Amino acid sequence: MGINAPLNRKLRMALVGGGQGSFIGRVHSIAACLDNRAVVTAGALSSNPERAKASAPDYDIAESRAYSSYQEMLETEAKLPEDERIDFVSITTPNHVHFEVADAAVKAGFNVVCDKPMTFDLDQAETLLKSVQESNVVFAVSHNYTGYPLVRQAREMILNGELGEINAIRSQYIQGWLRTQLEAEDQKQAAWRTDPSKSGAAGAFGDIATHAYNLGRYMTGLLPETVSCSLKTFVEGRKLDDYGTAIIRYESGALGSVTASQISHGRENDVEIEIDGTKGSLKWRQENPNEMIVRQNGKPHQIYTRDPNAPFTNGSGAAACRLPSGHPEAFFEAFANVYSSAFDAMVARAAGETVEQRDTVYPNVYDGVEGMYFIQQCVASSSQDAAWLPLKHAAARK
Ligand SMILES: NC(=O)c1ccc[n+]([C@@H]2O[C@H](COP(=O)([O-])OP(=O)(O)OC[C@H]3O[C@@H](n4cnc5c(N)ncnc54)[C@H](O)[C@@H]3O)[C@@H](O)[C@H]2O)c1
Repeated sequence: MGINAPLNRKLRMALVGGGQGSFIGRVHSIAACLDNRAVVTAGALSSNPERAKASAPDYDIAESRAYSSYQEMLETEAKLPEDERIDFVSITTPNHVHFEVADAAVKAGFNVVCDKPMTFDLDQAETLLKSVQESNVVFAVSHNYTGYPLVRQAREMILNGELGEINAIRSQYIQGWLRTQLEAEDQKQAAWRTDPSKSGAAGAFGDIATHAYNLGRYMTGLLPETVSCSLKTFVEGRKLDDYGTAIIRYESGALGSVTASQISHGRENDVEIEIDGTKGSLKWRQENPNEMIVRQNGKPHQIYTRDPNAPFTNGSGAAACRLPSGHPEAFFEAFANVYSSAFDAMVARAAGETVEQRDTVYPNVYDGVEGMYFIQQCVASSSQDAAWLPLKHAAARK
């Protein structure tokens, strides 16, 4: 079978952001190309036009497809013959530049993979949702933690009822890199993340709590009802929160908590989730992603390893593995699983099918809207002494 059958060719990727000195753009390109299903063809790689062009050789992008702005890229690419033009646009710019690129790309008919948080605010997210609904594009949001094999294994186990009724979700995303006022030292990634005009209404909560919240929603499918949140800024002079906790009441009666920190000494990128059901509980940590603990009272604790061939591995878990057990897979592979699920849909669309935009394996525009609603309501709750506020948005999916 050819690559991306029945398309039988690689998908052509355009990268926005990812210029020299940046972080996640390079990860997107590696993840997208990991399975030989895509090639980086075009780019508007930086806000600085010279750097945008100078960064193109790092991705093997031909000079003619290295654009000085995303506007120029979308306009030029849309006019190219179908067998040359890009298939999808990956958006890896700071948050305030997501919406304008995403909306323009969708309106030009290109599929999109957008990093999180999906937009700068909820208004933009709802507008973008409409644009996507009016199109037939594939729209993925890179909540990459959903791509880990054991996360997908856990999701299938939970949705099958193996843990019983879900009573509680505790998720946290703990970092320590902003313990000092790094933004005052002109560190690029710290500077925009702590600037409300670029990051949005929240700091740590927009940057990383959105991942932790999305993970609980993805793994359990529970629908949120209300939220109470307390955010704090511990580092003097910082303009946005660097620590916070939200409590979530789910429609089912389950309780959830999401804690995010960027000021915990020595903590690196500790995304962790524990889920308690009436028949069992589980715990998964992204810093040790090839193991998951499942516990039941009165029984020895079970350690699930990432093993595509083990009898205990379910279909979703096995489908997300590339290597035999004991050969560690991690961040790139999980990121690539989000891409791979979105590619399946892009190939179906290219073959003339109408694509499912809501009930997808990969996080999508609806999840992106939910993420923005979560941020908005957490900030509002925190400013009202942790008042309980609604959290269920019409975009919420089961
Ligand atoms: N999914 C994840 O795990 C993950 C991890 C890190 C960052 N992110 C998200 O990815 C995005 C980027 O974060 P980062 O840490 O890589 O930022 P960064 O500052 O390292 O890189 C941003 C890049 O975008 C470019 N850029 C800015 N405006 C542009 C424009 N108008 N046109 C073209 N390029 C432009 C910059 O020049 C730079 O190359 C953010 O939204 C962030 O929240 C996600």
